[in-house]
Amino acid sequence: MRHNFNNERHRGHHGAGQFTSQQFPIAGSSGREFSPIPGGGSNHNFPSSSTGNNSANFRSFSQQQVQNFCNYKPKRDFNRCLSQHLNAVPSRWTREQAERIRITRENSAPVISPPIPRISEDLWVWDMWPLQEKDGSIAVLPGGWRVLFTLSAPRSVLPNNRHDVARIAYFYSRDGLNWIQGGLVFEEGTAFGSRQWAGSAMIDNGKIHYFYTASGRRGEAQITYEQRIAYTSSGFVSDLDGVEFVNFTPHQIILEPDGVLYQTLEQSEQSESTIIYAFRDPWFFKDPATGCEYLLFEGNIAGNNSEINCGLTGELEQQASQYTGNIGIALLRNNSYTSWQLLPALLEAGCTNQQTERPHIIVSSGRYYLFTDSHRFTFAPGLTNGPGPDGLYGFVANTLRGNYQPLNSGGLVVSNPIEEPNQAYSWLVLPDFSVLSFIDTYNLQGITTDELSNLPESFQIEHFGGTLAPTLQLRVSGRTTEIVAEYDFGLVMVSETESPKCCRNGNEDGPENERCQSCECRNHNDDCGCRQNDHHKCRDYDDECGCKHNDHHKCEDYDDDCRCKHNDGKCRRCGYDDGKGNDECKYKQSDHRCSCNSSIQFPKLDPNRFVERPRCGCSNN
Ligand code: FRU
Repeated sequence: MRHNFNNERHRGHHGAGQFTSQQFPIAGSSGREFSPIPGGGSNHNFPSSSTGNNSANFRSFSQQQVQNFCNYKPKRDFNRCLSQHLNAVPSRWTREQAERIRITRENSAPVISPPIPRISEDLWVWDMWPLQEKDGSIAVLPGGWRVLFTLSAPRSVLPNNRHDVARIAYFYSRDGLNWIQGGLVFEEGTAFGSRQWAGSAMIDNGKIHYFYTASGRRGEAQITYEQRIAYTSSGFVSDLDGVEFVNFTPHQIILEPDGVLYQTLEQSEQSESTIIYAFRDPWFFKDPATGCEYLLFEGNIAGNNSEINCGLTGELEQQASQYTGNIGIALLRNNSYTSWQLLPALLEAGCTNQQTERPHIIVSSGRYYLFTDSHRFTFAPGLTNGPGPDGLYGFVANTLRGNYQPLNSGGLVVSNPIEEPNQAYSWLVLPDFSVLSFIDTYNLQGITTDELSNLPESFQIEHFGGTLAPTLQLRVSGRTTEIVAEYDFGLVMVSETESPKCCRNGNEDGPENERCQSCECRNHNDDCGCRQNDHHKCRDYDDECGCKHNDHHKCEDYDDDCRCKHNDGKCRRCGYDDGKGNDECKYKQSDHRCSCNSSIQFPKLDPNRFVERPRCGCSNN
């Protein structure tokens, strides 16, 4: 069954006297419905939309929270953000939890049956990520375009070899369904790595920020599996004709494993891992509760795997200790997204699973839903009930640093159906809990992937999707989830996160914010929210009544592009960096937050932490 898309929007109301906090509806809680896509049907995600129940649940943010979120400054707020992680202990995905994984009616995706429409005629396309706003909402560029980035390889490459030549491509669409191929994002030879793997992209203040995995080294004769996290940014031209990215900044490596919190390739090679090591898949996340900005990524537990004690015996102990997947996190340190502080992992799957791929978080009803993709073959051996399937796995906690518990008991949120265990992969959950993925090897009708590699190349090509799978819709309630709808192939809906809403250029404090909330902003949307790019204090408006690009109301002196002139003497904050190395600006006011502590050490974690003590056996004495 395939539903047509209907995007439901939810309208808030902002009553009088509510200006000290922001309230907005929790996704799906109620509201009049409309669909930006003609002919859309009902969105079955949330019960209230089908029952016509009009009572809205609102999430509230205090003025302090709104300020923290909207006025976040990475340098100034570094210690505030860091303090939440200093004694942090990674949550664990234990073998015992993984043994509770079951494929059920609620988590099993419908079989994808041919014919499949392809997003590209000449490219294989797999891991995908939409352009998001800084708060994680799906971005819409001028001209009405949604943008989707994907890993890609020419279709002349054998599907299995695609990872060795991967490049990031992009597509754009007005309806989120019909995608126009934009081409490769980075000019050849400019990006790091002999190939580029998955990442994320965020738009802020007229610039697009790209985070991606640099795999191997550019120009290497033999591919290697070193992985580093890289960054670049660009401007863009987006109008009725389409979307183009322009003026890229030089690419930079921004994160490498330290060997203390995250395993280096060398440490992995000294161990006996047989499954590919990871330091990849950066995903940008701005915590709605604090405003602090992070990258999540896939890593492995640092050190030699033999240091890990799974509490098992004999050969199984030795084998299981090789499975060291974790979900890493790093905190932003500077304004230019180039300096990051590695933090202890959010989640460790030691002795359970080697790969926790493409980790990402959706905050809903104040809960943190942490999702990751994993394969059947990356589960550690010896699990009762066997390894979990290729699927999307999820965990939930009350705070970013909370104790993440697996959803649906074992963690399985979306499984490939038993009949087609490899039909899709690389699931990505969006703010409305719709789920993207790509079609992997499908219509195999019982042939295993091992057998597949011995079959003729033409057969392998015929049974590889290399395109977007039907989008799925989850309903999430507390610790349980359910697939409730299957939409069209590759549908990307516009959805918003439940983060505080900021006016352009941040500042949400005081009367500005009141205006924004009370619909006095000059260019408001139907929800009475300030429209993107609107800025009520803007002095100079463009044709659409939006603030002219990079207008900055606090600036006293403008350059030709209507930008705030550097060094206009308005640096008011400690740690403010004018981007011109102006130290006076940086250190003008010295309060304690000015000194940045560059040598934060996290203790090496106790290697015995993995011991799972027998729960009901007699001890020796
Ligand atoms: C998931 C994945 C990612 C990686 C990419 C490489 O499908 O393994 O973790 O970035 O594929 O192609």
